[in-house]
Amino acid sequence: MRVGVLTGGGDCPGLNAVIRSVVRKGVQEYAWEFTGILDGWAGAVKDMTMALDVRSVRGILPLGGTILGSSRTNPLRLDHGIDRIKDTLDAHRIDALVVIGGEDTLGVATALTEAGVDLVGVPKTIDNDVGGTDYTFGFDTAVGIATDAIDRLHTTAESHKRTLVVEVMGRHSGWIALHAGISGGANAILIPELEFDLDEVCAWVEKRFEINYAPIVVVAEGAVPKAGQMVLKDESRDQFGHVRLSGIGDWLAREIEGRTRKDARTTVLGHIQRGGTPSAYDRWLATRFGLHAVDAVRDGAFGTMTALRGTQIVRVPLDDATRGIKRVPPELYAEFGVFFGT
Ligand code: F6P
Repeated sequence: MRVGVLTGGGDCPGLNAVIRSVVRKGVQEYAWEFTGILDGWAGAVKDMTMALDVRSVRGILPLGGTILGSSRTNPLRLDHGIDRIKDTLDAHRIDALVVIGGEDTLGVATALTEAGVDLVGVPKTIDNDVGGTDYTFGFDTAVGIATDAIDRLHTTAESHKRTLVVEVMGRHSGWIALHAGISGGANAILIPELEFDLDEVCAWVEKRFEINYAPIVVVAEGAVPKAGQMVLKDESRDQFGHVRLSGIGDWLAREIEGRTRKDARTTVLGHIQRGGTPSAYDRWLATRFGLHAVDAVRDGAFGTMTALRGTQIVRVPLDDATRGIKRVPPELYAEFGVFFGT
């Protein structure tokens, strides 16, 4: 059996841990051969590959990024994209694919399954917004990095008694903002799932100053003010139609400063949240996903994705997982109201 492995979409810590675990188990237990497909779907369309064996995955467990490269290429928007992928798979005698990606990459995987390609998905993303799984790997590392940044921002905010706004990633979900904000003791957390009221945010900020502490406001890049337009860095879209987010943090700091007449600054954490070594938990989860993906290929459970439910790894149909993004439930957010403005 020959298995192809591909990583697509934005990278995240833990991708290499999955690749390693898939190759180690496939080679050591089943004597399978592996082909690495480079740069996500771009490599599948353009026939760019590398050999993958146990030697090539040694030492990569703690490495961030992906040894296979990644891209946001959407083959469904290219002429004969699916046929070209099938040609690449035939040329390398690949019987099955392990596709490691987020909602976009797995959406393509769903279409390929319908077109008769045998594959198994593995959910990744720092955003934690893939449906069907409690958590994706990459998320824990991103939350750790953002929490560490918030801890540091507290001390400088206190020294200057100013508002510090921290903009975090997450696209249209607030998982990173909520988890890092709560873990870092933020005084306001703004998530895309709930439009925020600028008056309320400023009231929280003032309240925090009144008790003689400096406010930390965590805002998700996709958060939007009530009856307002989302603030975008530019209007360009990627091949999956996503606008490039970021900009809300700067806007918010300016508004807060103007209304409270106290200094406010912004820190945009950006791609720092995606880089570097994965946390121990992400290595653990990525490794388990990889092992279970190999089992799914062995069992011919194609068109499924490995998923975490509680502490169990299960298989869910790919189209269930990619039907819509997983967002923060309002009742979960509401649990933390006691910390806002205090
Ligand atoms: O999906 C992961 C993510 O990091 C989002 O949080 C963010 O909006 C986006 O990717 C940034 O993508 P790019 O790699 O195109 O800058």
